Amino acid sequence: MKRRLFVTTALPYANGSFHIGHIMEYIQADIWVRFQRMRGHEVHFVCADDAHGAPIMLKAESEGVTPEALVDRIAAERPRYLNGFHIAFDNWHSTHSDENTELSQDIYLKLRDAGLIDTKTIEQFYDPVKGMFLPDRYIKGQCPVCGARDQYGDACEVCGAVYAPTELVEPYSALSGARPQLRESEHFFFRLSAKRCVEFLRGWALDGKLQPEVANKAREWLEGEQGLGDWDISRDAPYFGIPIPDAPGKYFYVWLDAPIGYLASLKNHFDKGQAAKLTAQSFEQFVADPAVEQYHFIGKDIIYFHTLFWPAMLHFAGRKAPTNVFVHGFITVSGEKMSKSRGTGISPLRYLEIGMNPEWLRYYIAAKLNAKVEDVDFNPDDFVARVNADLVGKYVNIASRASSFLARLFDGALVDVSALPAWQAFETERFGAEIAQCIEGRELGRALRLAMEYADRINQHFDSCKPWELAKDESRHEALQQVCSVSIAGFHALTVWLKPVLPALAARAEVFLGAGELAWDDFMRAPTRVGRYEHLMTRVDPKLLDALFEPAPAAPPAQPVPGSAARTGAKPRGDSGPTRPAASGVLSIDDFAKVELRVARIVAAQAVEGSDKLLRLTLDCGEDTPRTVFAGIKSAYSPESLVGRHTVMVANLAPRKMKFGVSQGMVLAAGFDDPAQGEGLFLLEPDEGAASGMRVR
Ligand code: 2FM
Ligand code: ZN
Repeated sequence: MKRRLFVTTALPYANGSFHIGHIMEYIQADIWVRFQRMRGHEVHFVCADDAHGAPIMLKAESEGVTPEALVDRIAAERPRYLNGFHIAFDNWHSTHSDENTELSQDIYLKLRDAGLIDTKTIEQFYDPVKGMFLPDRYIKGQCPVCGARDQYGDACEVCGAVYAPTELVEPYSALSGARPQLRESEHFFFRLSAKRCVEFLRGWALDGKLQPEVANKAREWLEGEQGLGDWDISRDAPYFGIPIPDAPGKYFYVWLDAPIGYLASLKNHFDKGQAAKLTAQSFEQFVADPAVEQYHFIGKDIIYFHTLFWPAMLHFAGRKAPTNVFVHGFITVSGEKMSKSRGTGISPLRYLEIGMNPEWLRYYIAAKLNAKVEDVDFNPDDFVARVNADLVGKYVNIASRASSFLARLFDGALVDVSALPAWQAFETERFGAEIAQCIEGRELGRALRLAMEYADRINQHFDSCKPWELAKDESRHEALQQVCSVSIAGFHALTVWLKPVLPALAARAEVFLGAGELAWDDFMRAPTRVGRYEHLMTRVDPKLLDALFEPAPAAPPAQPVPGSAARTGAKPRGDSGPTRPAASGVLSIDDFAKVELRVARIVAAQAVEGSDKLLRLTLDCGEDTPRTVFAGIKSAYSPESLVGRHTVMVANLAPRKMKFGVSQGMVLAAGFDDPAQGEGLFLLEPDEGAASGMRVR
């Protein structure tokens, strides 16, 4: 039966370039979607930029541009990555769009009509300098439990305590350094704690469809002692978001309109007439149709939003809740965790720029994915070994060996493959069915292991027939043609199974096989002749991996690459204290390029208690979260005189533990080596117009 599918990945924030974690999710979903299409199902696969929220607004402000301009700039770089990795969304849109405004306001009004919106006056920290209420992540202070300094407003990174921002000791705004004031404001709440919400969510989340790990989480939230709290869905101006109807100065919290962006992108896709190829339904008919299955691929950090808020919002606004969410873990590189804002040691763009084959990565990631919420590790040596052994050594090898005899002695013609040996016909059928089941259930690693097991059998059969000996004896040429033909039949089946993972390679193989566009059911059908064999895939040269992990001299500012630490497991150099090279010491340009200098804005500055040299600086260097840097410039500057100024920092210095906290970089100042030549310290300042995060070269 033809299935009808609406599939999305999570919407990436529009304040930075894609990192490898995004690419992993898109590859997973893209493989699944391509498989469904090959099965003949109707699929609408969409995504969009998640454009709203305080971090984007503040980042744009620090760059001196409008949030719209920032979002547009990021949107403009998306196709390079998506095309580069063969990720074939049907549509890419934005949550900052008319469709999303209409849908969000409509859903909100329906929830209000259903009696599920409350207002409450709450107390919140307000930054009097910035003139805005502060999101928790922009409030810092001393941990109320262990006393650690510079902790975020929600949890302590030192002792792990969780608290409200109002409990911080000596709180300060990470934006201005000012002491925040508690102010009252009216907020809108979605009444998730209402009995009917909880009952609906129990039914939706605990009916067995979710992955076991995900269901356990949902059960904790739904049946834990605390129960579900109401959800604060409003934010006060200034805020980059969608205005709440009938509530001047109030905006939807970004997480309300973000998932609605799934629908907005789909609507945009329908409005552009692109869906008409597959369905005669309107957007609203399609999303309401009980026969349509709706799936969201997401990471494990956003389960809460997708298993509670999102289904409840849809259901109580009179819409259809998602069929399921498919949750994956994070990607680590050589076992190291990645930071959401800084990514990992792998820059997807650099991967493409140095000429690495995107299908190597697709294959490797697929080989490591399963249906569990487990992290996936990118290990460079394993990557080289896996791709070379499987794709080149097993799969492509079949075509190159068999076709050389076929071309030379039989003009490319195959024998009738109804003459497939019984074992092979049987095995092909069996493997094909099992591989399909694995891909359907997102057991991609197992699907590829099966495919490679099948390739092994084809190769073993080929070898056991010793075709090179058959070729020497003309009376045995018929047998030779038979061996080569069944091998090509095996290669053909493998091409079908690998096509969702390796679409570009499969397209070349289709030409070689004279097969036309292969659909899933074609795997039992074998070709009658092969064309000229063109090289289908080259081996991975391990040197490329070295290049991938080397800091790129011209890395784009949004993609800092923390050195080659990920590859070697070694700590990046640079925290070993002041080793001053002789003035005459010569540095190669490559060495210089390793130093990542960036423009940073000093958002806060404080004296450090117990130190007569240091100031604690809070620096915005264009990342999601500001950095803390201790600078020995107290003798030359008062803290107040620094706030708001731009300076230059070394951004890829290993974090350094100091008596007073961790320093996450270094600012640059000028001064004579010898005080006899003159005293004083002079902080470097870029020319007017430079913005936080800009790379200094
Ligand atoms: O966590 C994130 O990156 C969010 N931008 C995901 C949003 S998914 C959906 F709800 F839009
Ligand atoms: Zn603490």
